[in-house]
Amino acid sequence: MVERNIIRTTAGAPWGNNQDSKTAGPRGPLLLENYQLLEKLAHQNRERIPERTVHAKGSGAFGTFTVTQDITRYSCASIFSEVGKKTDLLTRFSTVAGERGAADAERDVRGFSVKFYTDDGNWDLVGNNTPVFFVRDPIKFPDFIHTQKRHPRTNLRSPTAMWDFWSLSPETLHQVAILFSDRGLPQSYRHMHGFGSHTFSLWNREGERFWVKFHFKTQQGIRNLTNEEAAKIIANNRESAQEDLYNAIDQGDFPRWTVYIQIMDEAEAERVSFNPFDITKVWSQSDYPLQEIGVMELNRNSVNYFAEIEQSSFSPSNVVPGIGFSPDRMLQGRLFAYADAHRYRVGTHYETLPVNRPKIPVKNYHMDGPMRFDAPEPGDGGYYEPNSFSGPVEAPDAVEPPLKINGDAAYYEHRSDGDDFEQPRALFRLFNAEEKQRFYSNFAGAMAGVPQEIIERQLALFHKADPEWEAGVRTALQAA
Ligand code: HEM
Repeated sequence: MVERNIIRTTAGAPWGNNQDSKTAGPRGPLLLENYQLLEKLAHQNRERIPERTVHAKGSGAFGTFTVTQDITRYSCASIFSEVGKKTDLLTRFSTVAGERGAADAERDVRGFSVKFYTDDGNWDLVGNNTPVFFVRDPIKFPDFIHTQKRHPRTNLRSPTAMWDFWSLSPETLHQVAILFSDRGLPQSYRHMHGFGSHTFSLWNREGERFWVKFHFKTQQGIRNLTNEEAAKIIANNRESAQEDLYNAIDQGDFPRWTVYIQIMDEAEAERVSFNPFDITKVWSQSDYPLQEIGVMELNRNSVNYFAEIEQSSFSPSNVVPGIGFSPDRMLQGRLFAYADAHRYRVGTHYETLPVNRPKIPVKNYHMDGPMRFDAPEPGDGGYYEPNSFSGPVEAPDAVEPPLKINGDAAYYEHRSDGDDFEQPRALFRLFNAEEKQRFYSNFAGAMAGVPQEIIERQLALFHKADPEWEAGVRTALQAA
């Protein structure tokens, strides 16, 4: 039979009338037997999945990673195996606090997630456009996010909650400084850098491990908006970043980022005077210079936003042999949170959706459950392990080198580990006079309506970083 271009029910039967419901008489009530109507309404009821609890508003595109420098001495990951090697990828950018319909041009951290479809499995680097983060212990993450979301009673964003939390959590100061600087409001996703933020590891076939930080430097140049420019954009367009990214790629103007790593060897990590696994700190680039490893290019828009971007599911737990985690507490907490979020938000077998599926055949002993779209052929030995029937076996060479750990199990206070003011101070002192003025007034604007004792507590943190910083914000608050 020649396939006709007609509507069919999900069971494949031809759909006779898509204009009128079936009624008892021309003006009578509906008939329950009008199954096409029932199916259509039922499907509409299920068109949404829960939005991400954070980073709900996002834009994404596909592209490639190309290796430009040989780093095989650090990592046996197949993605880095030779200069010139290309790996397909998906990148999703986002804002953090806003809901799915939020405006793009908000002052907020931007998410920078990359899924590398390597030929040895998917590697997800789920970072931000900032090299540090607000908190350094995952047990504080839900509290922090509550302050960024709507107040449970008013259903409004609450500057009081934000400044209350920040002023009581000195480790937030570095990220807060970046957020209220010019870089806290990028003009578009193409005009910002990306960072893996955490310390990760690379390991080689000799069993050596290296601690690394990943950096993506935009080749489009950094461009930011002032609060005033952003307000004008938002008044007319809530999708400014989506539009910019989609149109650039559509017109063949493919955005690129040069990818670098900073490297520290294991022995050195034990000697350095700071905690190299603290996500509220950067590593000095003069002590740990950036080493180029490749280029990321985005060159293909999704054909179906929901299927390919909304359902995309990134997780820091997705690493491949040659790339590993680190003892960073935040990273460790994230290793649980993301896959758990996906099972709830997208569904049990979220990783078999086309956008999440590795580009290589995947065999394991997980069975059944909702969303089992594929029908893996179990054979006699395909559903338990060990078996005598040629079922897939483990790959000992995928095990990373052992990591020496010592210490007693206890609730170690993270707030006593390091100086929260030194790096924000150094950042503040890099700003020129105009940058400082915008910095002060960005703070003053964001503190409107916050109780004075909370403002004073935050000003005391600014003072500890630099008295000029506190004085500048105080003056801006008086002028506001
Ligand atoms: C999204 C949890 C810290 C970057 C998410 C999501 C959760 C989450 C549950 C939503 C995932 C989904 O539904 O698809 C956490 C927890 C953290 C943490 C528990 C701390 C313990 C961080 C940090 C970064 C980060 C430190 C960046 C360095 C992102 C990004 C997304 C995201 C970019 C969006 C991913 C996408 O594009 O789909 N996070 N997060 N998060 N998070 Fe985190």
